[in-house]
Amino acid sequence: MPRPLFILLILPLLGLGATAATLRDEPIRPVPPATGVDPARAELGRQLFHDPRLSDDGSVSCASCHPLASGGSDRRRFSIGIGGHQGRINAPTVFNSGLNFTQFWDGRADTLEQQVEGPLLDPGEMGTTWSRVVARLNGDPALRQTFRRLYPEGITPASIRDAIASFERTLVTTDAPFDRWLRGDDDALNDDQLEGYRLFQEYGCISCHQGVNVGGNMYGYMGAMGDYFSARGDGIRTTDLGRFNVTGREQDRFLFKVPSLRLALLTPPYFHDGQTATIEEAIRTMARFQLGREIPDRDVARIIDFLGSLIGNHPLLSP
Ligand code: HEC
Ligand code: HEC
Repeated sequence: MPRPLFILLILPLLGLGATAATLRDEPIRPVPPATGVDPARAELGRQLFHDPRLSDDGSVSCASCHPLASGGSDRRRFSIGIGGHQGRINAPTVFNSGLNFTQFWDGRADTLEQQVEGPLLDPGEMGTTWSRVVARLNGDPALRQTFRRLYPEGITPASIRDAIASFERTLVTTDAPFDRWLRGDDDALNDDQLEGYRLFQEYGCISCHQGVNVGGNMYGYMGAMGDYFSARGDGIRTTDLGRFNVTGREQDRFLFKVPSLRLALLTPPYFHDGQTATIEEAIRTMARFQLGREIPDRDVARIIDFLGSLIGNHPLLSP
């Protein structure tokens, strides 16, 4: 038998070259590597993401509220913007956000490109205007040259948006133990993690938290099976209205984007109101208000084991 043919025949036996064919049929899919992103534009976006000149007083960058090494969110209940101004809604991670079907808790931005303008113009976050940002960045000859090289139009709102979104598209956490298991590696998960995944499905968490991002592909009511906001007991704020803020439709009140659980263990506190400090409590709250049942501590612990297996790798992430 000629050598190349022989190698082709034994490859599947060794489990090599076996990828898509053996992907397990599960409601969660592996995080795909970032493809089709211009590396030079993404690198420019990385610089802009960390550049405090994007805020009015030069004190806050995107990374101030979304520090990447620790998981892409600041772990505060509410972030701090320019002038020490405190926000009113919890900051989600930017990792894997390009995989979400829409941006923000209430889905008011369709794309990462659109999203950029939110924090930039928000008076309590970066508090600036496009013309000020463009003028300030144009005052930096090296940056002007980089933009000219990558974008014929130079420094404009569109090129700034594109560069930052390009960078964000590279912020995918790949090769999580769970994803290796999905791809057929039986040893990637231990028994506790497998048991946690089974419970996650049996309790029904999977009906809302699923797909590539284990969330991020639908809206869900906060309090599908109980009145979360009454139980919280401190009244309802405009930031609690969710999708209603965008559509004004009564049926969208308290409808929030189901968040990704990919990096949930790294990004406390939890929920749009940042009200819940620990993952244990967040899981109990979900069981109670989304599924109408109590969950024993032992099951909570196994679900946490499963959530740990969802954390993939990225060179800028070092939890
Ligand atoms: C002052 C803190 C702060 C700054 C600065 C900030 N963000 Fe955010 N970011 C937030 C908060 C809070 C939210 C959630 C807001 C909401 O959903 O209404 C958010 C949401 C996001 C989201 C949506 C993620 C998702 O899954 O819905 C992305 C993407 C994002 N920010 C990227 C950026 C970029 C890019 C910059 C810089 C241009 C930036 N942020 C600057 C606090 C901040
Ligand atoms: C009916 C849909 C639904 C079900 C079922 C559900 N969730 Fe959620 N989950 C959501 C929504 C919506 C949010 C965001 C709510 C908010 O912030 O107000 C959320 C938020 C979370 C968060 C917080 C994430 C963060 O970054 O703040 C965790 C953790 C979580 N869910 C875990 C679970 C677990 C574990 C289960 C099963 C016991 C579960 N969920 C069942 C819809 C659901």
